[in-house]
Amino acid sequence: MEVNYKNVPSVQEMAKKKLVTIPSRYVRDDQDHSVASSNKEAPVIDMQRLINSNDHDSMNIELQKLHFAAKEWGFFQLINHGVSSSVVEKMKHESQAFFDLPLEEKNKFERSPGDTDGFGQLFVVSDKQKLDWADIFYLKTAPPYLRMPIFFKLPLSLREAIEEYAEEIKELTMKVLKMLGKAVGIKAEEVDNLFDKGMQSMRMNYYPPCPQPELVMGLSPHSDASALTILLQVNDTEGLQIRKNGIWIPIVPLPNAFIVNIGDAFEIFSNGIYRSIEHRSVVSSEKERISVATFQSPRLDGELGPASTVVTADNPPTFRKIGAAEFYRGFLTRELVGKSYVDTMRITTTEDV
Ligand code: OGA
Ligand code: NI
Repeated sequence: MEVNYKNVPSVQEMAKKKLVTIPSRYVRDDQDHSVASSNKEAPVIDMQRLINSNDHDSMNIELQKLHFAAKEWGFFQLINHGVSSSVVEKMKHESQAFFDLPLEEKNKFERSPGDTDGFGQLFVVSDKQKLDWADIFYLKTAPPYLRMPIFFKLPLSLREAIEEYAEEIKELTMKVLKMLGKAVGIKAEEVDNLFDKGMQSMRMNYYPPCPQPELVMGLSPHSDASALTILLQVNDTEGLQIRKNGIWIPIVPLPNAFIVNIGDAFEIFSNGIYRSIEHRSVVSSEKERISVATFQSPRLDGELGPASTVVTADNPPTFRKIGAAEFYRGFLTRELVGKSYVDTMRITTTEDV
């Protein structure tokens, strides 16, 4: 994929220097830093109930809850998700261990400017652009043909952790995608066709403590270009916020739950019935925060557009069809700004103008 990100310094190293004031490139006076004071909370979905075909009543109730969560929030926490706790714990341990390595070790996996995979920021396309208060490590994890040489150079224990975690998350993701499809009337077969051999990628985020946390962004507001994202909170520092009706609401992670969100590709696939929601992360003055996002996207040789089983005379397509590879190329060559990218795929009728 043709991309050209600029390399930027490690924020973790900078944070170790105990600065009193932060460099101006991290000062985000372009952002609204306010947060909701209300105690609204994103819905919680029980995966076991959703797939327990022995109890149709509770399954249907949970499916209704899922529909509401996806439609009204675009975000939910998933409990009883079935991913083995040993696999999750190993992933947490290994991602923490990776960021704990000395910089020279991490730099062995440094992303080169023409690539997406590796250690180093994505979405930095100009020397003037403001920067996020985070270090990231991004990898394509599946299908195997998408794995880059960096993947095979990983320390064995990290690589094993990623492989095991990626595989279990893939299974869970497909189940959730099919349930979301079911809730809006998309056939499971159509979900399988586009996503089962889809691109899976992982983004490990490290947010160091910041002496002026109220001035920075850990991760700028964006929607994910994936169909579905499963976020693992690695330690107990909070930081994720989502934008609901124009107001930023914190997500307080439940123990043993995943945070799940709808991405742009599912907004398109559901013909806009579900929408991807903008989210961001903020940082703490005292504690580091680590998270691992796993993104499931369409197969790169597939076509992304509204599912044929959801488009009808009464529900005409509101997005154009685009080759999935082209869709991701477009996403990866831009700065990450809110939902501006998915908006370029909308079909605008004369009534909208
Ligand atoms: C992401 C993301 C949120 C977080 O990686 O796309 O939104 O809390 N992460 O780290
Ligand atoms: Ni995200």
